[in-house]
Amino acid sequence: MSEKLWIFDTTLRDGEQVPGCQLNTKEKIVVAKALEELGVDIIEAGFPISSPGDFNSVLEISKAVSNPIICALSRAVEKDIEVAADSLKYAKKGRIHTGIGVSPYHIQYKLRSNPDDIVERAVRAVKYAKSFVEDVEFYAEDAGRAEHEFLARIVEAAIKAGATVVNIPDTTGYCLPEQYGAIIRYLKENVSNIDKAIISTHCHNDLGMATANTLAGVQHGARQAELTINGIGERAGNTSMEEVVMAIKCHHDIDVHTNIRTEKIYETSRLISKLMNMPVQPNKAIVGRNAFAHSSGIHQDGVLKHRENYEIIDPKEVGVHESSIVLTARSGRAALKFHLDSLGVELEGDALREVYEDFLLLADSKRDIGPKDLLSLVGKYLDDS
Ligand code: KIV
Ligand code: ZN
Repeated sequence: MSEKLWIFDTTLRDGEQVPGCQLNTKEKIVVAKALEELGVDIIEAGFPISSPGDFNSVLEISKAVSNPIICALSRAVEKDIEVAADSLKYAKKGRIHTGIGVSPYHIQYKLRSNPDDIVERAVRAVKYAKSFVEDVEFYAEDAGRAEHEFLARIVEAAIKAGATVVNIPDTTGYCLPEQYGAIIRYLKENVSNIDKAIISTHCHNDLGMATANTLAGVQHGARQAELTINGIGERAGNTSMEEVVMAIKCHHDIDVHTNIRTEKIYETSRLISKLMNMPVQPNKAIVGRNAFAHSSGIHQDGVLKHRENYEIIDPKEVGVHESSIVLTARSGRAALKFHLDSLGVELEGDALREVYEDFLLLADSKRDIGPKDLLSLVGKYLDDS
């Protein structure tokens, strides 16, 4: 049996930081329940110190949801940790996620500090969080640009202080997959107590590498992945859950499994898009409008002969009813016949060829060809019969 990859959803925290995507408590509860249905293991419900509304959302989500672990974010600051702990008081399983910047940029320019002080603050924060909850996740912010040796040092110290999960964020989406994978490998090889904690990925998408980096992390030993639905998040977004889950499902050599009920992916994606007022790009992998739409003649003919000629995923697996054969000026006769058949019009040979020529003339001047257009094109054949 393969090892489990823990799915940590941060749609309600990192995802919700996107301008215009804010949700109220009621809406967040709807999302949290949908995430529970989807089968996520951990819901990062918010950053409670950030506002009374966010505090209240974490509190209410903790009451409304029972299976997933509920996680609250805090900086490595006592007050943050106390408020996070308070917001989790009704959670059946609560986790505090605390941490600090670890790259030279963050240490020098953001925190105006030095490496020794950063390690000390990290240890203090983890120990303090541990005095409230058993499950403490430590994040090493901007780990993607950190010095490996320092990263290993702070991760080791955080685990010694009681961290159950160590999160290695590529906060700025800087890494290439090989680099991110190498960071995880380095930690596995150089942190003496690494087996006492789960390593987590948390990748941003600034270079479009978030999914690839997450998978590289998993291939090198990470066993938790931090993800959002539709990949929403700061700037270019976080790693998209649907992409990671389906990549793992398609590639058995990535020897992990998740508990995600994949057939709920599409409806969850729609829900988030609607509530957050954030459209999904049509060509978005897995959940975009065109993800299972075939429009060129060669592809349409191939997919009509055998679905797997051009589809690596059965759309039903992610909750999409069926793939679509779109009629455009690039469509072939097979696609036209498919649509005519579905309208109950069976044409073959010369008749089909003739209608196809008329169809191409129409398709060159009109983007969307629908059933009405088709029926008018075949009108004379219907009249003759
Ligand atoms: O990207 C990041 O580093 C974060 C941390 C707060 C976990 O979101
Ligand atoms: Zn982030």
